[in-house]
Amino acid sequence: MIDKEHLNSNIPEHVAIIMDGNGRWAKKKGLFRAVGHENGTKAVKQAVEGSAEIGIKYLTLYAFSTENWNRPKLEVETLMKLLVSALKKEIKTLQKNNIRLNAIGNLEALPEKARKELLEVIENTKTNDRMTLTLALSYGSREELIKTIQEISNKVKNNVLSPHLINEAVINKHLYTKNLPDVDLLIRTSGEQRISNFLLWQIAYAELYFTEILWPDFKKSDLFEAIYNYQQRERRFGKTSEQLS
Ligand code: IPE
Ligand code: IPE
Ligand code: MG
Repeated sequence: MIDKEHLNSNIPEHVAIIMDGNGRWAKKKGLFRAVGHENGTKAVKQAVEGSAEIGIKYLTLYAFSTENWNRPKLEVETLMKLLVSALKKEIKTLQKNNIRLNAIGNLEALPEKARKELLEVIENTKTNDRMTLTLALSYGSREELIKTIQEISNKVKNNVLSPHLINEAVINKHLYTKNLPDVDLLIRTSGEQRISNFLLWQIAYAELYFTEILWPDFKKSDLFEAIYNYQQRERRFGKTSEQLS
């Protein structure tokens, strides 16, 4: 088992996680999918506390995708209710650990109650500066890129921006993630090896890590193992290995 002590000082600044496998976890135990989601919130706590402990500055969790709206109505309702209760319950953990809450996605699409609770916790934690925890809610990378292109087009149309000045920084400034650095490490649980419309632009040079563990079983030690694996890699960013040393 990998523990904190096995890690060196090369901690990724921004870790993003596709929290997958709640449904299969429940099915394996003969339980309703909702129970899987409930237990998924325990894993969120593990990931958040573990990240803060080792000095990760930005943790981004994929909690609900634009495509997840197509799930059965009852499951969507359960997930939204869980969001509200988890926010109510975990605000203490955020304050105690000096963690700021942030959200990305089409928040307008969330039920009023969930949106209100979310914005309240964001407001109440806005001066915390140990780590930024971003929840991706009703988030889809393509939707984000469409919104970005629309906003930039409007600026060009209104002569606020000239097309030749559009560069990476301008695009970054229009994304939901405008206040976040690029992702260094992307983790996906449950054995699936796909991106599912998550942060397409922002993971351009992220290291990818896939684990068979189902999300409700994810523990701090699983996070540390992913970080350990990350630390064994060489990020070359197009250069040669010799150039780096
Ligand atoms: C992840 O678990 C939670 C959400 C996508 C909201 P799933 O619900 O996708 O679990 P599986 O993939 O069916 O096991
Ligand atoms: C991705 O998981 C979205 C979240 C984890 C919130 P899904 O379970 O919805 O992904 P696909 O549809 O199987 O790719
Ligand atoms: Mg899934």
